[in-house]
Formats: sequence, C-alpha cells, structure tokens
Amino acid sequence: MARTFFVGGNFKLNGSKKLIHEIVERLNESKLDSNAEVVICPPATFIDYTASINKKSPQVQVGGQNTYTKASGAYTGENSVTMLKEVGADWVILGHSERRAYFKETSEEIAEKTKFAIDNGLKVILCIGELLEERKAGITLDVCKKQLEPVLAKLSAQDWDKVVIAYEPVWAIGTGLAATPADAQDTHKEIRDYLKEKLGESKAESIRILYGGSANGANASTFKDKVDIDGFLVGGASLKPEFVDIINSRS
Ligand code: G3P
Repeated sequence: MARTFFVGGNFKLNGSKKLIHEIVERLNESKLDSNAEVVICPPATFIDYTASINKKSPQVQVGGQNTYTKASGAYTGENSVTMLKEVGADWVILGHSERRAYFKETSEEIAEKTKFAIDNGLKVILCIGELLEERKAGITLDVCKKQLEPVLAKLSAQDWDKVVIAYEPVWAIGTGLAATPADAQDTHKEIRDYLKEKLGESKAESIRILYGGSANGANASTFKDKVDIDGFLVGGASLKPEFVDIINSRS
C-alpha cells in the first residue's frame, strides 16, 4: 500500500514572530517534494500568525501541540479544538512524551483527547514511544501497545483515517542519537502488526507511522527504504533550514 510521505514539525515551546516568519517564508520559497505532506506545529500563540503567512497550503498545513477534552468552559490555560481550527489548525499533536512526562498525561486521557479532537474536525499526530530503561528491558512493544490500547478502544475504524502515529523513542528525543533505521523499522513493523491484529490488514496498512527522535537533514534519507517508516515528526531540526532537506529526503 502506498502511503503518502508525511513530515511533521514540532516547534515545541520555541518561536517568535521573527523566527516563525523565517521558517514559513523558507517553506513558501523552497521547492518541496510534491509527494510530501507537511504539518508545522508552532506554539498555540502563533498558530494564527503561522497560518496567515503560509502560502503552501494544502501541502504545508498547520497544527497545534495539544488540546483539551472540552471545547470551551472553565479550564484555565487549556487549548480548545474549535479555537485551534478557527485560527487555521488542521492537525494537533497528542500524547507527546513531554506531555506524558512533565504534565502526567495518561494514555486514557490522551485517548479521550484524540477522540474529541477527531469528533471536532482535527486530524491527530498520536505520539507513542518507550523510555531508555524500557528499551533496555526489552519491553518496547509492550509499552507501545499499552499506549495504543485506550485509543483503539475509543476510535472507530473510520476515525483512524484521521490519525498518523509518531513512534518516538524517548531516549532519542533531543539527544542527537537517532534510532538506527533498522531498529526503527523493526519497531514500526511490530506496531503495524499489532494494528493489523486490532484493525485488520487493510486499515493497518493505511495508517502512516512516523519516526521521531533526532531526525535531521543528514540522517533523514537513511530511513527512506524502510517500508514501515512513512515519515518523520521533527523537533529541533524543524526550526532550521535542514527541515527542507528532511521534506525532500525521499525525492
Ligand atoms: O515531536 C518530535 C520531537 O519529540 C523530536 O525531537 O528534537 O529529537 O527531533 P527532536
């Protein structure tokens, strides 16, 4: 099954109008692989601005980095799915390891957020991945399964058409030490095989599984012949000119 190459840029808590203008203008002015779907996710405060200067849509779409399970009300500090859409977001990253670690989000909460976001018209980049000690203990797949189970319980088969999974080994995030393409492919295949058990062959084959964790302009092309790696969720490198190289790493 041919799955469209997907590159997400997770700006995390980084950015200013100047930096975002620089990043978006670079994408507007660059020749990008026309087969690549690109989603840039600035801090929520800059989604409106990012969408307003993005001239590459629909190839370059805009997303948020988190939402809540309610669209409005007395929830100080939260992000609303409907408000994200109103300011130009089509996507949202959910379940990022930093949300799980620093903000104690559980897989059950992430599943509820995922369903609510989809029901309100957003598409979701759903993050999963293990800690170093979990990889060393040989329980990577068990961890990924536990993170996916509550989402599988909540989403309909059709909902999965709005989801891209990002496998992000936590030990590779921000370290400069990406997983090897072979190791990443092994885990991606195990995740896809698990999805086949739960959703059937056809649906599992249609779901894109991204790699995230120190992907950059120098290593992106080394992943391109890995059949179950459908793209990247990029952190640090999404703020730099090499983000274009990652987008063009399969052309
Ligand atoms: O969400 C992507 C991010 O966690 C990966 O970060 O800086 O290792 O590319 P980085």
